[in-house]
Amino acid sequence: MIRVLFVCLGNICRSPMAEAVFRHKVKEAGLEGRIAVDSAGTGNWHIGKGPHRGTCDILRRNNIDYSGIVARQVQAKDIEDFDYIIAMDSDNLSHLKRMAGKFQAGKLFRMLDFMPDRPMSDVPDPYYTGNFDEVFRLIHQSSDHLLSYIIEREHVCDHHEGA
Ligand code: 4NP
Repeated sequence: MIRVLFVCLGNICRSPMAEAVFRHKVKEAGLEGRIAVDSAGTGNWHIGKGPHRGTCDILRRNNIDYSGIVARQVQAKDIEDFDYIIAMDSDNLSHLKRMAGKFQAGKLFRMLDFMPDRPMSDVPDPYYTGNFDEVFRLIHQSSDHLLSYIIEREHVCDHHEGA
C-alpha cells in the first residue's frame, strides 16, 4: 500500500478537503486497493472534530464523500508510516521538516509544487480567508498532478491496464 498524508494547521479545513478529494480521485482511478489516504494537523485545537462547515459544504456540492474524517494531530510515527506527506503551506512544511530530520525529508512535499505553472506556493487558509471555493479549485487541480506523479513514480498500473 502506498500511503499519502495531507497536513495543514488545524486539520479541519484544507487537509480534510484534500483527503476527501484525493480519495475520490484514487477511487475513480480504481486504485483504492493501492493508495491509502489520510490527513492530520500540526496543531491540536480541533482533535476529534469533523471538518469545518465550509469544507463540508463544498465537498457535498461536488458529490465528494467526506464521511469518517475526524481531526487529529500529526505524530512522529506518521513520518515513518507514510510515503508521501503533503503540506498545504510553507509553515506546515517547515513544521514537518523539523519532525522528519534529514533522512525522511524526501517524503515531504508542498501541495502546490505539483501545479505545473505554480501560480502560488501555499494553499491559502480558508479558516481566515473564508474562500473555500478557491481552496477547492487549487486542491482539485493539484490532486490530479499529485496522483499522476505517484502513479508514475511507483509504477502503479490503473484498472484499465489490469493489475
Ligand atoms: P486548516 O485551517 O489548517 O486549513 O484546518 C485552520 C483551522 C483552524 C485554525 C487555524 C487554521 N485554528 O487556529 O483554530
